[in-house]
Amino acid sequence: MTYDVAMVRSHYPALAGGEAFFDGPGGTQVPQSVVDAVAATMASPVSNRGPHSAPQRAADEIVTECRSALADLLAADPAGVVFGRSMTDLTYDVSRALARTWQPGDEAVVSRLDHDANVRPWVQAAEAVGAMVRWIDFDPDTTELREDHLSVVLSERTRLVALTAASNVLGTQPDVPSLARLVHDAGALLYVDGVHHAAHVLPDLTGLGADFYTCSPYKFGGPHCGVVAAAPELLERLRPDKLLPSSDQVPERFELGTLPYEQMAGVTAAIDFLASLDPSGATRRERLAGAYAAVETHEDRLRARIEQALADRDDATLWSRAAERTSTLYFTLAGVEPLEAHAALGARQVSISSGHCYAWEPCQRLGLGAPGAIRVGMAPYTDDSDVDRLLEGLAALGS
Ligand SMILES: Cc1ncc(COP(=O)(O)O)c(C=O)c1O
Repeated sequence: MTYDVAMVRSHYPALAGGEAFFDGPGGTQVPQSVVDAVAATMASPVSNRGPHSAPQRAADEIVTECRSALADLLAADPAGVVFGRSMTDLTYDVSRALARTWQPGDEAVVSRLDHDANVRPWVQAAEAVGAMVRWIDFDPDTTELREDHLSVVLSERTRLVALTAASNVLGTQPDVPSLARLVHDAGALLYVDGVHHAAHVLPDLTGLGADFYTCSPYKFGGPHCGVVAAAPELLERLRPDKLLPSSDQVPERFELGTLPYEQMAGVTAAIDFLASLDPSGATRRERLAGAYAAVETHEDRLRARIEQALADRDDATLWSRAAERTSTLYFTLAGVEPLEAHAALGARQVSISSGHCYAWEPCQRLGLGAPGAIRVGMAPYTDDSDVDRLLEGLAALGS
């Protein structure tokens, strides 16, 4: 299929302000249909979930539709889709519930490649129960995390491995299915951070070999919230903190308090919008597969333009180097503080990100420290004129 970026852009009201958005890895802009779905839910008769009245049934239907859309997106069982405030919040909850099953001396494994939201909850949960933490390194030259980096830290005491499917700064996509085999051979569970991944690659819970896969819809055109998916049987085995009268069913057992129906309607709309980019598929999953492939080709072409411009400069260091990676670039310009670049581009109505972007461990490992680097990311609505403006702004910076 041909990718009509002008048509795609026409659906995003925020683009009318003239900003060129390269900060999608921090959070994308939102299609009008998502805005409409949120507003329509708030304007329509909706009560708390239940069978007794039409407004109760409306709430129930919103939840069912949202789980079904997320199940199509993640190739997961809708009964294993847990909805929450953010990926960070959910990861804290799951880490505490899992740590209850650990003994002193058991081991939790985290990686130097991960966003802190898939590191610190596990470190703190392990500390709380006397479990050990072991670290998976990555190659700072290639920014790749290979099987040998993982195999040296696995042992018969490993209970959990927490690993990203794509780094939110470097874009690196480790070979999760191969790594998952090693984790499972060691008898451990794999918790995959798909927050950056799901914005660029169609996820597949089983195909990845993930026991848990977590993502945040606001990174792919949805409202600010988080999701974690797992097999319902695995969720059944866990006992999270919960209120006495609240449902003990799965996934409700993990969903604390009243669900945000308007946001859930927005998530369904965001997934339907992505699926609409390739109407040729028979099922929503097939339409999503076609749309993700088309968006990836589009984003990779724009990424290549920016990479070439950086390669043409003597003063640019590109830190995103893995063979398999998303269309997100992390780089420094000699003599230019990342924050200075951020402000200078901001003054030109070009939104980027700067700093460590919560990728605390990767920045330490690469010697970038807290100031981090400059991050630019493509989104489905990024076009060549955005890239022109970014490159003009960057050309005005540095030597
Ligand atoms: C890779 C990655 N993991 C986790 C998170 C945390 O997500 P949330 O804001 O939903 O807690 C982010 C947010 O930027 C991220 O990029």
